[in-house]
Amino acid sequence: MNTVRTVRELRAAVARARGEGKRIGFVPTMGNLHDGHAALVEKAGQRVDFVVASIFVNPLQFGVNEDLASYPRTLEADQERLLNAGCNLLFAPTVEEMYPQGMAGQTLVSVPGVSDGLCGASRPGHFAGVATVVCKLFNMVQPDLAVFGQKDYQQLAVIRTLVHDLNMPIQIIGEPTVRADDGLALSSRNGYLDAQQRSSAPVIYRTLCSLAEAIRAGDSDFAQLQAHAKASLEAAGLRPDYVEIRNANDLQPASREDRQLVILAAAFIGSTRLIDNLAFDLDLPA
Ligand code: PAF
Repeated sequence: MNTVRTVRELRAAVARARGEGKRIGFVPTMGNLHDGHAALVEKAGQRVDFVVASIFVNPLQFGVNEDLASYPRTLEADQERLLNAGCNLLFAPTVEEMYPQGMAGQTLVSVPGVSDGLCGASRPGHFAGVATVVCKLFNMVQPDLAVFGQKDYQQLAVIRTLVHDLNMPIQIIGEPTVRADDGLALSSRNGYLDAQQRSSAPVIYRTLCSLAEAIRAGDSDFAQLQAHAKASLEAAGLRPDYVEIRNANDLQPASREDRQLVILAAAFIGSTRLIDNLAFDLDLPA
């Protein structure tokens, strides 16, 4: 697996693979890779002949008081993990390579609708930062398909909308969330948790599961269910940002008629903000 730092080298390597008739898959990441990322690379490898991953901690998608400076940068371990997962090429650009003119005057891609509410409400500008960098990366790599984790459910919806609205010929694949044995969704930010915080973190997934169970059992008082869910997170010492029952397709607040639902949650444990979600279809068995 080769690691390249510049757009020029990236384009040359992808062009070589294309010249050999290979289909290109792409997995964009911010590094500090875990088994969830490895699953994305493996999924891409099952579908195409040449897998490109990127590692770039994108300043444009971090708010002023967020963890840009402390976000873990672990390039060597990440390279090892990517190699083992079957990645063919790693693109690991600098901030200057991605934003040569700086970020102040950067063209922004905004995806209204799906970006609003949920994480978009708590992290203003976040999804424009994500959409912009993903758009740039897509134009640099020009993949046939790209794989993203369903853990970032709203992000995946933003990217699907972006690709559709801008007519990008890229197939977007959502890969199921990988969880620890106790249910906690794998996330690079789990590394911020101390032992006690780590032991209370699985309450997020447990709360999502019991909400889904209640809805499957016929409870459709969504407002009350959401309030109860927040109360159980609080009782476990977390500070809930939101717990929302939404239509799984358009992310609008769920109605009683909706069959495909997703419950999304964000909560702080200390200063660490974790997100998780559970999507399900009321017409299919649990
Ligand atoms: O999900 C992530 O790691 C990032 O938001 C992404 C998609 C790589 C864009 O920076």
